[in-house]
Amino acid sequence: MFYDAVANTHGLALDPFKALVAPRPIGWISTLGKNGVVNLAPYSFFNAVSEDPHFVMFASGGRKDSQRNAEETGEFVCSLATYDLREAMNRTSAAVGPDIDEMRLAGLTPAPSLLVQPPRVKESPVAFECRYWRTIELPGRNGGPSDNAIVLGQVVGVHIADEVIIDGKVDVIRLKPIARLGYGDYAVIDEVFTLPRGGASNV
Ligand SMILES: Cc1cc2nc3c(=O)[nH]c(=O)nc-3n(C[C@H](O)[C@H](O)[C@H](O)COP(=O)(O)O)c2cc1C
Repeated sequence: MFYDAVANTHGLALDPFKALVAPRPIGWISTLGKNGVVNLAPYSFFNAVSEDPHFVMFASGGRKDSQRNAEETGEFVCSLATYDLREAMNRTSAAVGPDIDEMRLAGLTPAPSLLVQPPRVKESPVAFECRYWRTIELPGRNGGPSDNAIVLGQVVGVHIADEVIIDGKVDVIRLKPIARLGYGDYAVIDEVFTLPRGGASNV
């Protein structure tokens, strides 16, 4: 099948787009409101976008608390959503007011960050401390305005739990990160294969 993605005439019961751009890593974004309250929410429009220096992005459909706090305070932290933390991660996607500490609400423990103010999720084995860089506002379907925006930040500090470093490498099977698929579906990394870049002759 082919469909016009601007008119979005896919003809299916549900929009297939997010099921096709999958798996998407989940940035579990913690920020502080101007009132000092901890905000935590998952974003699957999330990824690393450069390595030197290290930059990450998350994209917000509407100017939600995470975007507003990152812009207003200049800082955010991305903790890794893992299989063991899947229920807590899901709880933090609930729309709650800016006066509610969403980390505590989900039964999670705030651990102090070293270089920025927002705490990381203590139960998570990996966290990126980030300094907000800028927001890119995306246009609407026909070039007009939309409420979608990409928030970019530089990673200034990385936490990794010692138990997941084996022989000097991060063991992703021990981490068990979860990723977002389409619909209500998720994936967990429980199998890894290695492919030498360029083919076997480059080994
Ligand atoms: C796994 C998962 C991924 C999500 N990804 C996004 C996303 O990429 N962008 C977005 O705007 N909302 C996303 N959401 C919804 C937000 O988490 C939700 O709107 C949340 O209440 C926003 O919180 P905030 O206002 O504290 O930032 C996602 C929800 C879940 C469960």
